[in-house]
Amino acid sequence: MSSKTVANCRPWSLALRLTVWYAGSAFSLVALTTGYLYFALVGQLVEEDDEWLTGKAAETRRVAESRTGDSPDLRRLVETGGGRAAERIYLRVNDARGPVPFAVETPGLSAAVPTHAFPDNLTTGVRDFRSENGRLYRLHVEGDPAGVIVRAAMDRTEDEELLEGHRRRLSYVLVVSLVVCSVGGYRLARQGVRPIEGVTATAQRIGPARLGERIDTRGLPAEVSDLAGTFNAMLGRLEDAFNRLSRFSADIAHELRNPVNNLRGEVEVALGKDRTPNEYRDVLGSCLEECGRLGRLIDGLLFLARSENPGAELRTEPVNVATELVAVREFFDPVATEAGLTLAVDASPDLVVQTDRTLFQRAVANLVTNALAHTPTGGTVTIVATHEPAAIRVDVRDTGEGISNNDQPHIFDRFYRADKVRTSSTGRVGLGLAIVKGIVEWHGGSVSAVSKLGTGTTVTLRFPHPKQMTKT
Ligand SMILES: Nc1ncnc2c1ncn2[C@@H]1O[C@H](COP(=O)(O)OP(=O)(O)O)[C@@H](O)[C@H]1O
Ligand SMILES: [Mg+2]
Repeated sequence: MSSKTVANCRPWSLALRLTVWYAGSAFSLVALTTGYLYFALVGQLVEEDDEWLTGKAAETRRVAESRTGDSPDLRRLVETGGGRAAERIYLRVNDARGPVPFAVETPGLSAAVPTHAFPDNLTTGVRDFRSENGRLYRLHVEGDPAGVIVRAAMDRTEDEELLEGHRRRLSYVLVVSLVVCSVGGYRLARQGVRPIEGVTATAQRIGPARLGERIDTRGLPAEVSDLAGTFNAMLGRLEDAFNRLSRFSADIAHELRNPVNNLRGEVEVALGKDRTPNEYRDVLGSCLEECGRLGRLIDGLLFLARSENPGAELRTEPVNVATELVAVREFFDPVATEAGLTLAVDASPDLVVQTDRTLFQRAVANLVTNALAHTPTGGTVTIVATHEPAAIRVDVRDTGEGISNNDQPHIFDRFYRADKVRTSSTGRVGLGLAIVKGIVEWHGGSVSAVSKLGTGTTVTLRFPHPKQMTKT
């Protein structure tokens, strides 16, 4: 196989790996146990047989050596042989001590085991011998060449058959256990992997039209459940962002349509018949106003898009808060005076924020615009800057009409206006607070509002301390 084909091969599936591991280890365990038991049995059989064989030979030698030559005791002992029924022992005794050498053997020994098959060396213990007719014998010799020599042979054919039967049964056991281990391992592995397949299937179903789809984490094993939970949370965030975006584009289209329709309507009406130059001037002035509104809307949208771009750069410098707030107050003073409102700044002179000066002013200006617009004559708008352990805090407080509890959660949303009828004539589009939020969050800070209907509103900006600010 070339290395290219190897690289193209799909890696082993998890189920296959688990199956191989499980089946391999379970089967090895069975095989080891079986093998150990088998060899223990063989060892024990051989040991018992050898004890029996050498014991018999020693006993016969003792009897033979206790008298010279032939004796009824010896004959009986040798001719009946010995051993258990299954493991017959054959004996041959040679006695060289008497004037005539004497020999006696169990009938059938010479036919089964020729004398030369026995070990020559009298101390070699035991040896195996297979006769011509295929029977297995265990041989043992002991004695003294000048005296009594006892040759003993034990027929172990039945032992052999017994072990052979054992081996056959054990091999059945091994084959069956291999099959069982493999099938069991495969089923176990499948079961373990199925939840992951469920996650994959759900992930494949998800698309822009089915973002609400979630993985069912009930009954999943802990690890997969964690994974699925994380995956679901990610889907939740995506769905949120996706919905916000689609709502936003719908809102944009809607918001752009009104001024464009107004423009067209006015122009159509003006062109409907001949007009005096004064009438034309009025229409053009009104068109210009509408264009201004469109322009502000587009500026606001562009600004929001830029502030939300994660890569957008923020050019900051240390800015003295009191100085900037006083500048804002001076800018709005004429409007406030005209509306019969008091506009005040309360800031200690040593507060510094690391910020983009124009953006800072724009945020505060948006808040002051709102406060002035929603506070009846005689009220007060106060800009307060304070030092908090974690932030520089700027509050814009008014004694105006306040915001209802229903509206409060939404006032920072784009295009959200609590009083739609009244504001449509003032040209406000509901982006002011969204822009404030964008600016503050761009700086790593936060914005919040507290309000009570009929009592007033306080909107709070928190900018991180210059040294804590993480540059984005
Ligand atoms: N100081 C305030 N007092 C009462 N209502 C406010 C105040 N500031 C904001 N709001 C409400 O929050 C809404 C959203 O404000 P904003 O985003 O600035 O939009 P816009 O000023 O263009 O309407 C306003 O329409 C108004 O209803
Ligand atoms: Mg506003």
